Amino acid sequence: MTAVPARVGVIGGGRMGAGIAQVFLAAGARVDVVEAGGDATEAARTRVSEGLAEAARRGKLDGDVEAVLGRLTLVDSAAELPAGTDLVVEAVPERADLKAEVLRAAESAVGPDAVLATNTSSLSVTELGAVLQRPARFLGLHFFNPVPASKLVEVVVARETEPELVGTASRWVRALGKTDVVVQDSPGFASSRLGVLLGLEAIRMLEEGVADAEAIDTAMELGYRHPMGPLRSTDLVGLDVRLAIAEYLHRTLGERFAPPRLLRDKVAAGELGRKTGRGFHTYS
Ligand SMILES: NC(=O)c1ccc[n+]([C@@H]2O[C@H](COP(=O)([O-])OP(=O)(O)OC[C@H]3O[C@@H](n4cnc5c(N)ncnc54)[C@H](O)[C@@H]3O)[C@@H](O)[C@H]2O)c1
Repeated sequence: MTAVPARVGVIGGGRMGAGIAQVFLAAGARVDVVEAGGDATEAARTRVSEGLAEAARRGKLDGDVEAVLGRLTLVDSAAELPAGTDLVVEAVPERADLKAEVLRAAESAVGPDAVLATNTSSLSVTELGAVLQRPARFLGLHFFNPVPASKLVEVVVARETEPELVGTASRWVRALGKTDVVVQDSPGFASSRLGVLLGLEAIRMLEEGVADAEAIDTAMELGYRHPMGPLRSTDLVGLDVRLAIAEYLHRTLGERFAPPRLLRDKVAAGELGRKTGRGFHTYS
C-alpha cells in the first residue's frame, strides 16, 4: 500500500489549508505550512492543533497530539519550503495572480521531482500550470470542506499533467483514507458542475411555485437518497458562494447556469444561508 508523501508543503493555512495539513500530519507526513506571517501564522498553527485535538477526542488520531504536532513547521514564504519536499498543495485565496506567485516560488524552492498541486475550486488548473517551468508535475487536488470529515478528493488533470502523476496522486488520496475521483480540468470539475446545476434548478422550481423549499428538499432526500436536499445544501455552502460559482459557470459553460433572480435577490438582502440564520430555510 502506498503511504502519503514523507514531506508535504501546504501554502495557506486557512480553512482548507489547515485541514489539508491536519490530514497529512495524521497520516504520518512531516508538514511545512506557509502562511503570511505574524497573527496569520499563529492562527494557522492554532487551527491545525485544534483540528488534531478534536480528531483525538473522537478517537480518530493514531498517536498523541503533541507528537503529531512535532512534525509541523510554519514558515513565512513558499521560498522557504525545503528542497526535499515531495508534494506541495497550494490553498491560498481564490485569486489567480496570488496562486501563480506562490506556486512559482514553491517550484524554485523544492526539487525537480516534487509534485505541485492546487486546491482551487474554480480556476483553470491548466492556466495556473502555464506559469510553471514544469507544468507536467502539476495537477489539481480538490479537497472538500471540512477536510478531515470529507471523504472525497477530486484529482484534476490539467492539459500538461503527466499521466503517471495521476496514479500517484490517486494513491496518496487513498492513503489519507479518502476516495479519489479523476476529472479532466474543466469548469466546476465534476462536483460543483452537477451540484450547482441541481441547486439552480431547485431555486427555479421555488420561483415557479412548483413546491415549497421543504418539499423540494424532501423529494431529493427521500426520493433519491441525497443526504441533503439541493436548497439545504445551498444554505450550507452559502448563497453568496453559490452565486459566485454560478456566475463563473454561466460565463464558461452557458445559459443553463444563469443564476435565477431569487438567488440574486436573497444575496442582495443578506440572506446567505446558515451563516446568517436565513436562506431558503430558517435557522435558529
Ligand atoms: N472553503 C471551501 O469550502 C473550499 C472548498 C474547496 C476548495 N476551496 C479553495 O481553497 C482555497 C483556500 O480557501 P479557504 O476557504 O481555505 O480560504 P481562507 O481564506 O480560509 O484561507 C486562505 C489562507 O491563505 C493565507 N494566505 C494569503 N496570502 C498568502 C500568501 N501569500 N502565502 C501564504 N499564505 C497566504 C491567508 O492568511 C489564509 O489563512 C481557495 O482556492 C478556495 O477556492 C475552498
